[in-house]
Amino acid sequence: MKKRLQTPVYVTQPAMPPLEEYIFYLQQIWDSRILTNNGPFHQQFERELADYLGVKYLSVFANGTLALVTALQALHISGEVITTPFSFVATTHALWWNNIKPVFVDIEPEYFTLDPEKIKAAITPQTTAIMPVHVYGNPCKCSAIQKIADTYGLKVIYDAAHAFGVKIKGTSILHMGDLSVLSFHATKTFSTVEGGAIICQDAQMKRHIDHLKNFGFEDEVTVVEPGINAKMNELQAAFGLLQLKHINKYISRRKEIANLYRRELSGVKGIRFLNDMEGVDHSYTYFPILVDSLLYGETRDELYVRLKANNIYARRYFYPLISQFPTYRGLASAKPENLPVASKVAEQVICLPIYPHLEPETVNHIANMIKYK
Ligand SMILES: Cc1ncc(COP(=O)(O)O)c(C=O)c1O
Repeated sequence: MKKRLQTPVYVTQPAMPPLEEYIFYLQQIWDSRILTNNGPFHQQFERELADYLGVKYLSVFANGTLALVTALQALHISGEVITTPFSFVATTHALWWNNIKPVFVDIEPEYFTLDPEKIKAAITPQTTAIMPVHVYGNPCKCSAIQKIADTYGLKVIYDAAHAFGVKIKGTSILHMGDLSVLSFHATKTFSTVEGGAIICQDAQMKRHIDHLKNFGFEDEVTVVEPGINAKMNELQAAFGLLQLKHINKYISRRKEIANLYRRELSGVKGIRFLNDMEGVDHSYTYFPILVDSLLYGETRDELYVRLKANNIYARRYFYPLISQFPTYRGLASAKPENLPVASKVAEQVICLPIYPHLEPETVNHIANMIKYK
């Protein structure tokens, strides 16, 4: 029996930049007394973030959920939207808040993103868009999805909440589709405490989104549409500017931890992990493993309970499937028979702790817990 860890290890912990560096920004906010409403840090953060991500048009938000809700508004999406059940519940809630009917389509078994092969069968005359998720930061099969969207005249909105900085052959995946949405929640690779962004493809759309996140105001006296209040404030924006200075280090630490888990867990019977995709720069937001109980000799839930008893708080992301929650389970597309791959993955998956300051000894300890029952 391995020794129980003294202090709890959570699935994630935010990376905190040096406090004295944040005080430098806070002092400027105190001096200017500008706390929100497209202040100087908000503007600077949008510019520097767009540069970092390698995109041209981006609008930052108070959080990722409001960004998703607004993205759907920005494109006037209505009727039915095809989406994945294997995600955080906010993906589907954003549809619900827009009075849109979610239509769940199964995921592919390798990287758990929406399966393009199964999208066509779910399209009806009411379908207006596809909302796939780059789940765990794994890029969706974007070309196949775009082909279907073009054929049927559908919009594509990517939930890229997990995909900060993800690139394919050096190009940001945020260029895919009509809009992409990031989350900067404290649990994410890049955080502004709470926060998010919409990435769009032209200046006109950015202007539209900027209006929508600020009650629809175009200028002091002109309200051009019924917007919401989804603005990022100056304290968040300053925190984001500071985090940008450290993000490369955070991502490379996460990569080291992922590779350490892979080294330690390779060859463990019944445990499967995901390898990096060829030519992709990953975000390493999560480290999911799948437990095949017959081969491993313990179910995923037994492993979860055993880790917890040892002060290791792994999380079963994403279980239950969104399609199993009471709001959605009555939908025809929510039936488990319609979603065999997602249903199986949701039963087997568990995400192990990963964050930049997680000690290699702790990673080894967790891996040993999994290796030696
Ligand atoms: C896939 C996904 N979509 C949307 C969200 C919502 O983002 P936020 O928490 O910033 O509102 C999250 C996580 O929080 C998420 O994991």
